[in-house]
Amino acid sequence: MKTLSIAVIAGDGVGPEVIASARRVLEAAGRRYEIAFRFEEFGWGAEYYFQHGRMMPPQALEVLGAFDAILLGAVGHPDIPDHVTLNGLLLPVRRSLDLYANVRPAVLYPGVESPLAGKKAGDIDLVVVRENTEGEYAQVGGILYHQQPQEVAIQSGVFTRRGIERVVRFAFELAVRRNKKKRVTSVTKSNAQGYSMVLWDRVFAGVAQEFPSVEADSSLVDAAAMNFVRRPESFDVVVASNLFGDILSDLSAIVTGSIGLAPSANLDPTRRHPSLFEPVHGSAQDIAGKGIANPLAAILSGAMLLEHLECVAAACAIEAAVTAVLAEGRMRTPDLGGDSSTGEVTEAVLEKLG
Ligand code: NAD
Ligand code: IPM
Ligand code: MN
Repeated sequence: MKTLSIAVIAGDGVGPEVIASARRVLEAAGRRYEIAFRFEEFGWGAEYYFQHGRMMPPQALEVLGAFDAILLGAVGHPDIPDHVTLNGLLLPVRRSLDLYANVRPAVLYPGVESPLAGKKAGDIDLVVVRENTEGEYAQVGGILYHQQPQEVAIQSGVFTRRGIERVVRFAFELAVRRNKKKRVTSVTKSNAQGYSMVLWDRVFAGVAQEFPSVEADSSLVDAAAMNFVRRPESFDVVVASNLFGDILSDLSAIVTGSIGLAPSANLDPTRRHPSLFEPVHGSAQDIAGKGIANPLAAILSGAMLLEHLECVAAACAIEAAVTAVLAEGRMRTPDLGGDSSTGEVTEAVLEKLG
């Protein structure tokens, strides 16, 4: 029996709804594959903020560091500015635990309709690898003459050779492990951003040399956005800066049917720190509390957690159960055109898990 200690930050909006589902599915897979979970829930997020004036306690990062992994729902509340909630929780966690590779797979599953005409199951099978600790999200800058007519905002991008190199190398290694098209597409904008993206391109070209068996491709971000729609089947692994990867991973999610299906892993590939697993979507305030959020992105994030912790058979069983529920098409939440509840879809996955 293997025991995994998991810190759970369910967070805000639909976060607690989808995390409850993910926990149930993990527990069920654990029973079948002899994995015991020691979940510890942390009530950090908007409610914590209303009581304490901050999103998480000062020692939070230290506390999280002691777990095998972190499972997170979503962060964001209509009554608190987003830069306060996210810069008070998710973004500092990604940075301080050095979770530098944000892995966001997008797969068109059997039984799911893409909004793109003529795409069938399997046509789309790509992974966005997003740099997750620096770049446009470095949060370096300030506001001068705050709220005066002459105010000035400076938001600097921070691109380091080390930061680019390690995420690009991770992307190439992933293309080798996936053993599919063996192609890495670098997303750039060096035609306009003549410093940061020029360094990005140069580092990408250097790392590409180490992987002669993988095709190295490069695309300007605007063209990449177009091609995610025009020919998503041409992508395998896509490596992008923090902001470009953020935007492209909402696009890759929707072309595979719904953001409610898109999981993610925020990895520290060195395993010095616990990695964090979360759906790509946010707190979805428009549907929170209605019991109709799609739980599959959170459930598949749980499968990515198991895979990272070397419980591959259990991870595969969860993926297979989700695939079977989608293929059957009987139980689906409204984002996929159905009228099932979060609970009904979760039950269907549990049933397939056996
Ligand atoms: P969102 O992802 O919350 O919602 C976008 C759209 O997708 C909405 O129409 C929503 O109903 C739908 N959607 C999202 N998740 C769904 C699910 N599981 N099932 C069905 N439909 C789903 O993005 P937003 O509206 O731009 O942001 C809402 C809040 O969440 C903001 O405060 C934002 O900052 C925050 N946010 C947090 C995270 C995170 O914690 N990782 C990610 C994205 C956004
Ligand atoms: C995501 C989210 C976050 C991001 C926000 C909430 C800060 O959109 O995880 O994709 O931009 O990283
Ligand atoms: Mn996003």
